[in-house]
Amino acid sequence: MLRLSLLSLLCASSFAFAAEDPKTAARLATFTKDIKPIIDKSCVDCHGKDGKKAKGNFNATTLEGLEKGGKEEGKGITWGDAEKSSLYHLAFLGATARTEDMAMPPKKDKKHEPLTTDQLAKLKAWIEAK
Ligand code: HEC
Repeated sequence: MLRLSLLSLLCASSFAFAAEDPKTAARLATFTKDIKPIIDKSCVDCHGKDGKKAKGNFNATTLEGLEKGGKEEGKGITWGDAEKSSLYHLAFLGATARTEDMAMPPKKDKKHEPLTTDQLAKLKAWIEAK
């Protein structure tokens, strides 16, 4: 009997791991394919490229850095909620309200274009994917 319950416990936990995995894998795959190219083009120049100091303490060169966020605006990514993710929120401001202080890229920056509607939609879908 004990052996049986141990066995079912093992099965239950390996099932839980299996259920976690595809989501993480999908998240990573979309990151590499769709998201990283956007960040590399529009954000990393000021956020940690080539080991340079990241502005606002926001390192956009790794997924960990993106998740963590900067020093004032909270977490970079709150999975499931793009509005609570400074990565999305500040890029959204950058594309819509270029007058906001924290809009990204900064309004005085002439080198980087604000994200397009399509890029913002990809970012939002990635953060909020179920
Ligand atoms: C031309 C340089 C430049 C570019 C390009 C740029 N940023 Fe920033 N970013 C800054 C500066 C400067 C700060 C610090 C602002 C401050 O603290 O007042 C900052 C801060 C941030 C922060 C941290 C806010 C906090 O304090 O928590 C985030 C998140 C951010 N940027 C996201 C982005 C994203 C996303 C992009 C690309 C769409 C981007 N940035 C592009 C210069 C840039």
